[in-house]
Amino acid sequence: MRVTIKDLAERAGCSITTVSHILNGKGARFSPDLRDNVLRLADQLGYRPDPIAVSMVTGRTRTIGLILPNIHNMFFALLAEEIEKYCHQLDYNVILCNSMDNRATEHTYIQALLARKVDGILLALASDSTMSGTMDHARLAEEKGIPVCLIDRMVSTENLDMVSIDHELGGFLACQHLIDLGHREIAFLTGPSKQLNSQLRLKGAKSALRQYGRDMLETAIFPGDYSWECGYRQADAILASGATGLFAFNDWSAFGVIMKLNELHKSVPLDLSIIAYDNIPFLNGGVLSLSTIHQPIDQLAQAGIDTLLNRLDNPGCPYQQHVLEPKLIERDSTMSLAQGR
Ligand code: RIB
Repeated sequence: MRVTIKDLAERAGCSITTVSHILNGKGARFSPDLRDNVLRLADQLGYRPDPIAVSMVTGRTRTIGLILPNIHNMFFALLAEEIEKYCHQLDYNVILCNSMDNRATEHTYIQALLARKVDGILLALASDSTMSGTMDHARLAEEKGIPVCLIDRMVSTENLDMVSIDHELGGFLACQHLIDLGHREIAFLTGPSKQLNSQLRLKGAKSALRQYGRDMLETAIFPGDYSWECGYRQADAILASGATGLFAFNDWSAFGVIMKLNELHKSVPLDLSIIAYDNIPFLNGGVLSLSTIHQPIDQLAQAGIDTLLNRLDNPGCPYQQHVLEPKLIERDSTMSLAQGR
């Protein structure tokens, strides 16, 4: 049975108020013996403060709501794990919500988390989320004193806390890598068209082509949605386009392309050099040695939590948009065109 603060006070022979002050580090005015006795009894009896009672006093539940678009994509599974690890270091709990990559479920979870009075919400947008819907969510939450911080997937505003990677630079590095290997026919398998982080990767790739005096042909762009299934479906058309290099906007969709190429007995990189984006561990060695753009998921997680907690302690502080650096990781899935001939 749960040991209550009343039980503890009776055993210690003092009032509930005295016990509460001593446990909350405010017992300086009491004798050292009394303080030591209360702390020892609390440990011996396995006393744990009632989180609901504590939240009613402090106004905090020490719980963060985390809404992700899907958890079967290992990028998000890794992000969730990093967020949980960091939150536990700070003595915070996490409620993980999977929005099934649709804004209706995302909205339902926002309401559910507000009702449970989480201290803050970290949100990676669903692919069909809109700017206005996102801002409405954030304003509604802030009216209840619950900050919202976007993580990984952002919108074009400065009136919201956001942490993400410099996806335009990431797209530039990926495309530049293929150009530097001599590829002139390059295909682009994008993410969801509404997602700003996919639009920025495409923008960066176009900048890289322009730096070499080339334009991106619309026929070289293959619409995707970050799923491996879309990569698998688009692989035939990508091969038929005559491309010798492919920039897939995430590892998962690149994995789908490679699955199809294997069925067609085509070689990566001999028949198609592929560079992707995320740097998911299981795709970088063993099964595949995928050239990719590394996203520092641990730094992203820490920046998201720090930004959220900073807003909680400083509600009126200016909105922050943290942008972290991606990195090119060269492996065996890309090779020089001259080498392959
Ligand atoms: O793999 C999932 C993709 O969607 C990643 O590139 C990440 O940026 C997320 O937005």
